[in-house]
Parts: sequence; structure tokens; C-alpha cells
Amino acid sequence: MTDREEFPEGFLWGAATASFQIEGATTADGRGASIWDTFCATPGKVLGGDTGDPADDHYHRHAQDVGLMRELNLGAYRFSVAWPRVLPEGSGEVNRAGLDFYDRLVDTLLAAGIQPWATLYHWDLPQRLQDAGGWPHRDTARRFADYAAVVAERLGDRVRHWMTVNEPWCASFLGHHLGVHAPGHRDPVAALAAAHHLLLGHGLAAEAIRSTGHDARIGLAHNQAVIRPHSATAEDVRAARRADGVRNRIFTDPLLRGAYPADVLADLAHLTDFSFVADTDLAAIATPLDFLGVNYYAPEWVAASAKGLDPDTVSGGGVGSGEDGGGGAWIGATPEEVHVSQGLPVTHMGWEVDPSGMYDVLRRLAAESGGIDLYVTENGCAYEDTVTGDGAVHDPDRIAYYEGHVRAALEAVRSGVPLRGYFAWSLLDNFEWAWGYSRRFGLVHVDYATQERVVKDSGRWYARLAGTGRIPRR
Ligand code: FCB
Repeated sequence: MTDREEFPEGFLWGAATASFQIEGATTADGRGASIWDTFCATPGKVLGGDTGDPADDHYHRHAQDVGLMRELNLGAYRFSVAWPRVLPEGSGEVNRAGLDFYDRLVDTLLAAGIQPWATLYHWDLPQRLQDAGGWPHRDTARRFADYAAVVAERLGDRVRHWMTVNEPWCASFLGHHLGVHAPGHRDPVAALAAAHHLLLGHGLAAEAIRSTGHDARIGLAHNQAVIRPHSATAEDVRAARRADGVRNRIFTDPLLRGAYPADVLADLAHLTDFSFVADTDLAAIATPLDFLGVNYYAPEWVAASAKGLDPDTVSGGGVGSGEDGGGGAWIGATPEEVHVSQGLPVTHMGWEVDPSGMYDVLRRLAAESGGIDLYVTENGCAYEDTVTGDGAVHDPDRIAYYEGHVRAALEAVRSGVPLRGYFAWSLLDNFEWAWGYSRRFGLVHVDYATQERVVKDSGRWYARLAGTGRIPRR
């Protein structure tokens, strides 16, 4: 039977997490410190002084969590490997016990019939490498490739899908320019160098994984922003073009075309001459991708200035992203540029809900990436959930969010976009970076004090979707 709301046969349904956000056990079995441990320990950086402990104690409860994945009918699970568990010093001696954890996780997933999709860098850089200069420093890209080889050699006989880095924009600009993510620096040139070295790290890691000889499919998870001019005036269109350059094309042009966009280089010429880009880097970065992961949450509207706009709708002196946890300027933005809310419903993050952005981002990346497979590697929302007297979590807003976005994804598929799968963010409530435990994104509710898990109504809804490939009726 064909259903109007049915995805193609074989479409992959998954959920995603990241090591620092769920594992806890930050000192277990020889794990080294990461920049997020340091950032959390720095007063005022993370809401409520929250840290990577206990998170979901997934390090000790992974078998139970794989059981939950089965309940949700997941075909795939996207997790990240904690670099400081595998190489506590960032390079050199391998910590067997750390690697063993991922070995067990992968075996447990496979035994449950769930494909393991591994991300190698979801922001927990070993502190030792930060001490040596971190991502602004070229050597970090080479250390990343060495680490990728260690993990791929061990897991590559069972893990086929690899994402090198997660959201290089966040890791570079939120971490080094806006200072709201680890390592918490505010240096635009360091941020640009970090962005370049994250891309280089991606390219070198891809080569390292391929050279293990395992059958690997390699991509990365990119949070392509959907940036719309607030109005059709030439000024707003120009502001949106600039923002698109430093949010999107500064990553996708090197990855997909092997070159930095000329307008971005010109926009940023007052900051740097990009002398950190060596001759052979772009060829390494543009190594063919087997797939591209797209993380999408909300679109953003940009205006050249706040002049004439309702002050309650604008944020930023320079454009702040909804994702940065609070205001700040784009690299390359004029001081007048602002972010303009459109009065749409918002999630607990304050991000506006607009599924048309999902359709737009998939259409655009399909056109730009030359027909490679696309996957939504993250999409989801935070709402203020509570466990009610009946022991359930009723979260109709989250179901509505998923329904709208999954429908937009289906529309994209119908229009010819080679979208092959979708991962919900997130499996479990978890540590939401600078927001600590105050923002809940899970399909499964976690009580951090007792570690009790409760599948939310949205989790049950998602289980029906994943089990049938059809958008469930509510
Ligand atoms: C993305 C991150 C992910 C999660 C979601 C809400 O930027 O990749 O770890 O925090 O946002």
C-alpha cells in the first residue's frame, strides 16, 4: 500500500548523541581531561555550574540505552567517540580501556540490529592539545588524523559510517570568537584558523580512515545555517550574503569545491591574510565525501541595521545566532547588523520553529553537493518537560516539531533530494553545552539524580515513524 506520507523503502531512522553530553564518568578508566571539563570548571561559563558528570552515566548504562533504542525501532545510532578516552594526552599512548568501551558499544548495537554511526570529534578536544595551541594550531589537525586512524583500525571492521567532525562552525566560532563554548576564547583570527584546521583535520582524518583498508563511508555533520534577509532591501540582502559566507560557504566551498569563496576572503581581509592556509590543504579538504550530514534546527533572519525595527524583535550588536547561547557578532559583520525574530513560536532554546528551513537547506545542499547522499544527522527541539503523575512525559510540542520537520524532509525527498536518512537529536535528555542540564532535547526523559529513563510521548511517536516509515497520525 502506498501512503501519501510514506518514506521510501530503506530510508534510515536514527537518533544522535555526543560523548560529552551523555557519557558522564569523566575520570573513569584513564580518560584524560577535555576542554569541556576545563570550561565547565571555569566559573560563569556553564549555566548552574553544571559539568559532564553525571550526564546520563551512559558510560555505565550503554546496554540499557541500546535497549531503549530498540524500543524506539532505531535503524541507526549516531554517537561520538571521546578523543580523551582513547588518547588521554591527545596523542601518543592509546588507552585500551577507553577504546574497549566503544568496542562494547558497537557490538551491543550490532547485536540489537542497529547500525553504528560514529562521529570522531564532537567538541571534546583533549586538554593537552589545547595547552599546545588547540585548533588554531596546525598540528592539531595532524593529531586528529592519528587519532582517527587508531579508532578506525579498532572499529572499522564493524563501523562503516564515519563523521569526522561535528559542526565545525560551532567548534571554531562559538569556541574561539564568541567564547560561549570551550575553549572560551574571543579572538576572531584564532577562530578562522581553527575553522581551517578543523576542515584540514577532516580531510586528513578521511585519508587516515580510508588507509586502514576497511570499507568506510565518510562524511561530516555540518550545521548549514538557513539565513534569510529580513527584507528585500539591498542592505539586508548584502548582510545575509555576508552571514551566509561566514556561516556556510566558508565550510562548504572548501569541502565541495576545494576553494575558499572570494567574497568571504574579501570580507575578512581586514582581519587576516589567511596565511595559515598551506598550498596542499585545499586538496586534502576536498577529498570526495561519501555523504554529507546536515544538522538543522531553525532559520535565521538578518537585517543590516535595527533602524526602523521593533526593538523587541532584534538581537545582537552584529548578528547573534540563536545557537550561540546569547548574542554576539558574526565575524565580518558590520557592527549594525542584527538578527530579527519573526514572531514565530519558539522552543525552550528561543529558536523559532519553521520547518520550511529544513526543506530549503536540503534543496540547497543537494544542488551544491553534486548528488552525494545526504542525511539529516541532527534535528530536534528542547521543551520544558515534566514527568506527570501517570509516570509519563506528555510533550505535544515536540511531536508537532518533529512532525513538521519530518514532513519537510519527505517533501525534499519527493522533489528529488537524495536524502537517505534522518537522526533525531537526541536519544536522551543530556548536557546541553553552555546551558548545562537546563535544556531537554531527548526522546527519552532522564532524571539526572536517579538516572531513571522514561520514554516521552514523542519517543513513542518516533518509534511508530521509525517502525513503519510513515508519518504517524496523532
Ligand atoms: C548542536 C550540537 C548538539 C546539540 C544540539 C542541540 O549544535 O551538535 O551537540 O547540542 O545542537
